[in-house]
Parts: sequence; C-alpha cells; structure tokens
Amino acid sequence: MVPNITYHIMFICTFVYTKYILVEVHTDNNWLWWKHGVIYHIYPRSFSDSNGDGIGDIRGIISKLDYLSNLGIDGIWLSPVYPSPMVDFGYDIANYQQIDPVFGTLTDFRELLDAAHSKRIRVIMDLVMNHTSEKHPWFTESRSSRDNPKRDWYIWKKGKRGNTPNNWKTVFGGSVWEYDHKTQEYYLHTFFKEQADLNWHNEDLKRTFFNGIKFWLDMGVDGFRVDVINLISKDTHFRDNPIPFGIPLLQKLRYNSNMPESYNIARELRSLLDDYSERMCVAEVYSVPPGDSAVAASYLDKGHNAMNMAFDFSLMLRGWSARKYFHSIRKWYSLIPESGWACNVLSNHDLHRNFDRFWYRRNKIEKARVSAMLLLTLKGTPFLYYGDEIGMRNARLKRKEILDPLGKLFWPFFKGRDKGRSPMQWTHEEHGGFSDCKPWLPVNDDYPELNVRSQERDKGSLFNFYRTLIALRKRYKALSKGEWSPLIRGKNGILVYLREFELEKLMVILNFSSRRKKVELPGNSTGKIVFSTHRVQEDEFFSEMMIAEPFEATLIEFPEAA
Ligand code: GLC
Repeated sequence: MVPNITYHIMFICTFVYTKYILVEVHTDNNWLWWKHGVIYHIYPRSFSDSNGDGIGDIRGIISKLDYLSNLGIDGIWLSPVYPSPMVDFGYDIANYQQIDPVFGTLTDFRELLDAAHSKRIRVIMDLVMNHTSEKHPWFTESRSSRDNPKRDWYIWKKGKRGNTPNNWKTVFGGSVWEYDHKTQEYYLHTFFKEQADLNWHNEDLKRTFFNGIKFWLDMGVDGFRVDVINLISKDTHFRDNPIPFGIPLLQKLRYNSNMPESYNIARELRSLLDDYSERMCVAEVYSVPPGDSAVAASYLDKGHNAMNMAFDFSLMLRGWSARKYFHSIRKWYSLIPESGWACNVLSNHDLHRNFDRFWYRRNKIEKARVSAMLLLTLKGTPFLYYGDEIGMRNARLKRKEILDPLGKLFWPFFKGRDKGRSPMQWTHEEHGGFSDCKPWLPVNDDYPELNVRSQERDKGSLFNFYRTLIALRKRYKALSKGEWSPLIRGKNGILVYLREFELEKLMVILNFSSRRKKVELPGNSTGKIVFSTHRVQEDEFFSEMMIAEPFEATLIEFPEAA
C-alpha cells in the first residue's frame, strides 16, 4: 500500500496537472482546430445524392468523408439542412431541431457527426437567426391573432396613413413590409416575404431560440456559420432609412443593420458557445455596397470578441489584380483586433464560381492555381467552397432551368445564384456520379473530363494542387499560425509575402500577370523551393532577383531563419 504522505503528494500533483496543465492545453486559445484547420463549405443539395431522388443528402455526405479526409479538410460547414419549404433553398427554416426529410433524418445527422469526428473532421451548421420560414409554427401562431402570446416574436406594425410603416427595402428588392389581411397589420421580412423576421427584443423568443442552439451543441455540433448576423436587430422606433440623392437603390441601412442589439446577441451567442469546449462561430455580415470589411471586422470586436471569425467578402469581389488583392488583404488584417482571428474565402453559394468570376476567358486554370496558393498561404482560416478544388465552372442554365427565386425575378439582368450551386462532379459517369437520376439542377456538361476521379489520378491536377497546399499548411506552422508580412505589394502584377513562425520562414511569390516578370527581392539568403507551379521542388533558390513566369505561384522555405 502507498504510504499516506506519498499518496497525498501524488494526489496534489495529479490535481495540479489535470487542472492547470491539461486545461491550459485544452483552452489554449491560440491553437484551436478552427484556427489552424481548413474548412470546406458544402451545399448539401448538390454534394452527393445517396437515395436517388436527384437531391444531395446527409448520407451522401457521409459517403464522401474519405474524400474530404484525403483532401485534408478539418471541418465542414453545411448550408441549412433543417426542415424548410425551400423557398430560399433552406434559408427559410420551419423547424430548428429537425432535419428536412429531403436531406435525411436526425439519426443520419448523428451518424454524420460520429463518422466525421472519427476522421477528425468537425461539423459546422448554418444558423439563421434573422428570420424563419412563414411556415414555422411560431409564425403560424404569431399571425393568428394580435393577442397571441407569440405575436411579439415577429415584427408587426400598423400601416402609416394607408402606407407601409416605413421606407425600408428588402435585400432582394421591394418593401420589407407585407400586409396580413387577417390581423390587418404588416409583418417585416428582410428577404423574401416567405421569410418573416424574428423580433430579437423579445426575451421569450431569445430564450427559446438559444435553447434550440444548445440542442445541437449538446449533440456535438462544432459550431455555426451565422447568417446575416448584422441584420437581426432593428431600430425600435422604425425610423426611415436615408436615401442619398433620392435614389431608392442607394438606400442606406442605417436603422436596420448593425444596431447595438445585434452586437449584444452576437456576444451572447459567443458566450453560450464558450460554455462548451472548442466550439466556434463565423459570421456572415451583409453590407451595402457588398464587401465592407470594416463592418465584418466590427463583429470580432465591438461585442468584446463577439464572433470567433467573420467573412470578409472584399477579396472575392476584387477584379484580377495583384495590387487590388494586396490592398484588400492589408486592409482586412489591419481591421482584425489583436484578440481576433481572420478567415479568408473566395467563393460561396451566393456567388458565381471562383473559376469563372471576373477572370474573363483566358488563363482560368492558371489563375485558379495562383488564387489557391493565395487562399491557402494567407494568414487566417481558409474556407473552400465545394467543387472549387477541381475548378468547377458556373452552370450554364436555360431560363426554364433557373430555380433560385432571385433569378426568376430578375432574369435576364441577374440570372440568380444557381450558377454556383450545380451538382458536384465526382466521375465521368452519368450525372457526374452525383446521383442515379436527373439532379435538381443540371450537372455541368464538362463532367466527363472535369471530375474528382480523373483529377485524383492526375498528379498535375488542380485537385492535387489544393491537396498539396493543404498538406503544407498542416506541415508548416508558419502557414497556419505565422505572421504575414508583405514584401512586394502588387506592383507590376507581383505579390510577395513572408509567413514566419519561430524558426520557420516561408516566402510566397505570386505572379498575377500573363507576362514573365523580373522580381527583385529584399535580402540575399538562399532558400529551397517547397512547392511551385513552375519550379522543381527541392531546388535551391537565391532570393535577390528572379524571373517569375506568367502566373507563377511559388512557395520557398528559408531554413536558416533565426
Ligand atoms: C444569407 C444566405 C443566402 C440567403 C440569405 C437569406 O445571405 O447566404 O443564401 O438567401 O441569407 O437567408
């Protein structure tokens, strides 16, 4: 038997170790999966169809976890899979604690969580707090009578002199107010009229909603992408928004965006997540004009680190120019508070494909490689959009094939968001291996040549380019954690920057132009090529002067860094 005094010493040591040392490691805020990992955005309808109804589903995602693991992904974000009438393809939620039958069941979802976790892949859900579907039972109750207890869970107002309560416009065009004949009041909807806005000033709603979030956290969901966080709270006096020069399209969202309460709610959400271990939230922040990185960054700080991360859309809205990219990146980093963390993104389900956007007709594949190297070597968590890793193109749809209500509404001026949502191209087989039957949106007709299977086999494919970069991001802490310092700031089409962490020092050289360029680099140390579109790996590199080939993307390591 262990003598009493030794036993006590052992006990104290174990206690101190577990309480302070282990907990310290666990809560090391500087080294969390969502900071050092790569996150992959799945649009579930279009990823993989397991049951042959032409629509992607959760079991389809489970069947592709090995693929994601092989690509090196650390987390997946699923666009909404909750029950929904699908007016806005899932962003109109009718039940926050269930899975839409089209995507599967709660059991399937739990299986996805377990299977993903067993492969060290985290799962992030989409959280739509601004609005519900008009078919949500809360709204059915709310609209049933003026004195229903849930009336105040939504935003109801009387008209003003026979008109709408104020001049606010929806994100999709037209007044935010919809008249409801039954109770003779207007309800507010920031998006389609089928998406009624919740009233976040109502404490009952807030409590119930937050309990719903716990449901997923208790199940093991690793975090949330929060839909339009900055729109969820509105001016309590419903004042008219200013309209510069009297042009309605220029309406400023002064009284229905970035209200103090939105920051408070963001902070409350963050504190709920912080009660659990290693959960995260990343905010979508809407602005007019789009891509206002200062507003996005304000959600990292204003609420005392309200959100873990926020999307900066400025990079994806830039034209193809090294200088413009540089300015976006530098501005974005300058806005991130010291305690905050950046994330970077080039595509999502609301935009056209990265591969086709702004890049005109020429050199798309070369540009795709340069932008992949950029995204995966920048400071901040990279978010990849499904299919970008194989260079999927925009869908070319006929008018009758358009499903996005926005496309139907604004055709032919704006053809909607379907273009960037076409089914994943897995193989050369019928329907691109996405489904056994006709998919909900047509598969791009280049699938026989452009698909995952063929790219997996081809060492020089875009898929393997992404895969190598993701692996390098894991190998070098300088890439996932290091400081970023620019050396050439876009001049002459060239962007060069360093990533440094402790003894690691890497240099990224990107030539955005279609011409060979003489590049003069500061310093004269000798490095080694780690990875390059044009140079041989392991070759030595002398960093004073180089000729960068057209669309060259090269990563160099300086092993001697002190
Ligand atoms: C977000 C989503 C978009 C959706 C909108 C309304 O912006 O990304 O797809 O239409 O919110 O929920």
